Amino acid sequence: TFILGIEGTAWNLSAAIVTETEIIAEVTETYKPEKGGIHPREAAQHHAKYAANVIKKLLAEAKEKGIEPSDLNGIAFSQGPGLGPCLRTVATAARMLSLSLGIPLIGVNHCIAHIEIGIWRTPAKDPVVLYVSGANSQVISYMEGRYRVFGETLDIGLGNALDKFARGAGLPHPGGPKIEACAKEAKKYIPLPYVIKGMDLSFSGLSTAASEALRKNSLEDVCYSYQETAFAMVVEVAERALAHTGKKEVLLAGGVGANTRLREMLNEMCEARGAKFYVPEKRFMGDNGTMIAYTGLLMYKSGNTLTLEESRVNPSFRTDDVKVTWIKEEEM
Ligand code: ATP
Ligand code: FE2
Repeated sequence: TFILGIEGTAWNLSAAIVTETEIIAEVTETYKPEKGGIHPREAAQHHAKYAANVIKKLLAEAKEKGIEPSDLNGIAFSQGPGLGPCLRTVATAARMLSLSLGIPLIGVNHCIAHIEIGIWRTPAKDPVVLYVSGANSQVISYMEGRYRVFGETLDIGLGNALDKFARGAGLPHPGGPKIEACAKEAKKYIPLPYVIKGMDLSFSGLSTAASEALRKNSLEDVCYSYQETAFAMVVEVAERALAHTGKKEVLLAGGVGANTRLREMLNEMCEARGAKFYVPEKRFMGDNGTMIAYTGLLMYKSGNTLTLEESRVNPSFRTDDVKVTWIKEEEM
């Protein structure tokens, strides 16, 4: 089976062709704003400008491996969640390909794609997933036909929270890696608000308090304290999800997962609980076309395709809205 998938929920326009076992090709064009954060319409214009080129280049790379457009079985695209204008641009490109090749469309939930690529590229089988990216922060696990959200942010995603604090502190975008570097030079921990409500998380109060703490403390100490506090929060929710589900694996997903300190803390928690901890290769943690193509492939093979009428994008598409047709419980 050959599936072409297109990702374009935010910064990254990325398309890939995969089979059950192989990544045939992947081509990516990243939108980089001149300054500050992402402008949804500018990002969408970027995607519109490069979509044809990205697909052409992808098909050319596939051809070098002997794969023709007529070999493709389906076109997958990121249907949401994400920025409306970006999603619509990518969906338009996907519809055109689907119509011209006469093959079905597959609407992929972006968050689920982050999970499935992790399961594909690591030994994880049935993990508790900590998905922490720019816009999203969720603790997720499969249960009875759905990926259930056990806990999530009530305000902003952890990556955006880190970026926002960093911008206020005068650090360049994206702030996550800069904060990680500063934290390594810290001398002491400054108490900051640790906010968990039930199983849910909140980062905006932490960001505000951290910005205020900068008036009396060094940037290094605040960066360190911010990381220790925020990461302890997400690790606590992941640990409670492990205890609740009785599962024995943790999978880390999303761009914030690049952080070494977060990995260390998760690994310690997993060791203490006798669970295995898995992180995919870095190229599969941020947004990529391969994860959309691969999740599309799983969906296609379980008959989960869309008609043109059903192919509207959904900027607030939830992880637990998706009926997981491709997991057979008896195989787990
Ligand atoms: P999504 O649509 O899934 O929310 P996204 O496009 O917002 O994804 P990703 O590419 O998954 O984002 O992640 C980007 C985020 O990861 C940024 O907020 C960035 O600051 C953060 N990040 C990257 N590297 C690190 C790091 N080493 N430590 C902490 N945060 C990091
Ligand atoms: Fe993402």
